[in-house]
Amino acid sequence: LPTHFTFNNGKKIPSVGLGTWQSPPGQVRDAVASAIKSGYRHIDCAWAYRNEHEVGEGIKLGGVPREELFITSKLFEFHHKPEHVRLALKDTLKNLGIEYLDLYLMHWPLAAATDPVPEGQIPQDYKYDSDGKKVVDKDLSDNVVPTWRELEKAVDDGLVRSIGISNFNIRRTRLLLKDARIKPVADQVELSFTCPQPELVAWLHKNDILPQAYSPLGSTGASHASLKEIDELAKKHNVEGANILISWQVARGCNPLPKSVTPSRIANNSKLVQLTKEEVDSLEKAALQQPHKRVCDQSDDFKYDIYEEKHPENNDK
Ligand code: A2P
Repeated sequence: LPTHFTFNNGKKIPSVGLGTWQSPPGQVRDAVASAIKSGYRHIDCAWAYRNEHEVGEGIKLGGVPREELFITSKLFEFHHKPEHVRLALKDTLKNLGIEYLDLYLMHWPLAAATDPVPEGQIPQDYKYDSDGKKVVDKDLSDNVVPTWRELEKAVDDGLVRSIGISNFNIRRTRLLLKDARIKPVADQVELSFTCPQPELVAWLHKNDILPQAYSPLGSTGASHASLKEIDELAKKHNVEGANILISWQVARGCNPLPKSVTPSRIANNSKLVQLTKEEVDSLEKAALQQPHKRVCDQSDDFKYDIYEEKHPENNDK
């Protein structure tokens, strides 16, 4: 299995990265440091995880030169206003204690409305309506290009090596591709044994955009690692279920980002297993037969699928 994937801009990304979503403060610093010490060179972060400061401490403790690391972060959905993008990026860089990101993703396709903040500051929260629901910024959600332009400028200015998207479906990605000067290199979405999304994965591959897999183990509790098909293969290869799930993602051309704060698991998760083509195909089939289950609920009224249902005028523009 490959140790790296190559982006459409020629740059490389290590084929397994450490996820940091839901890694609690007080633990994530040591998790990141132990990952780097055990050989990880790829850490996946986000402003929204509210732990980048500690991740940054872990990166320093890891003791590896910056240029040997691959660090991703994400622009959060309430920082889409063009005047906030650079400020949010700088906040992330300051928290991580680094000068540039290897990859900066638009975390979600929809933009959240925010209450006004003083010039030079970034919003810290959503705007809520009188029913307590998050308010969508419709203009910046129907058209992400003004936000994307700011990400492109961050590449021009050397603050970011590559840019990409996250949680984008085919329709939204297609819309962005029409106007992008710099093509997204990756789309980070939920990809797992109960959420394999084969159509999206195939479409991204066809368009030379790397699918990155968050929650590859089924998230909290790693519930997929003990499923029958996974357990059988794990026994056969004499590894843990997590190794099968992670290796399967790499074998299907996706870039898994398993999260753990447990040093022994972190070290174990980066060991890839050479699966045969038959094994990969049978996992692919078995995944489609699972009851479809997502960790990251897309049916939140604010969010994506429902939003599109409510605004059919957006479809297939
Ligand atoms: P912990 O962080 O306490 O070690 P995902 O990557 O799908 O989001 O899954 C993350 C969850 O899987 C976390 O609860 C994490 O626990 C757990 N986990 C990570 N690696 C393993 C492993 N090798 N075996 C069992 N559970 C794991």
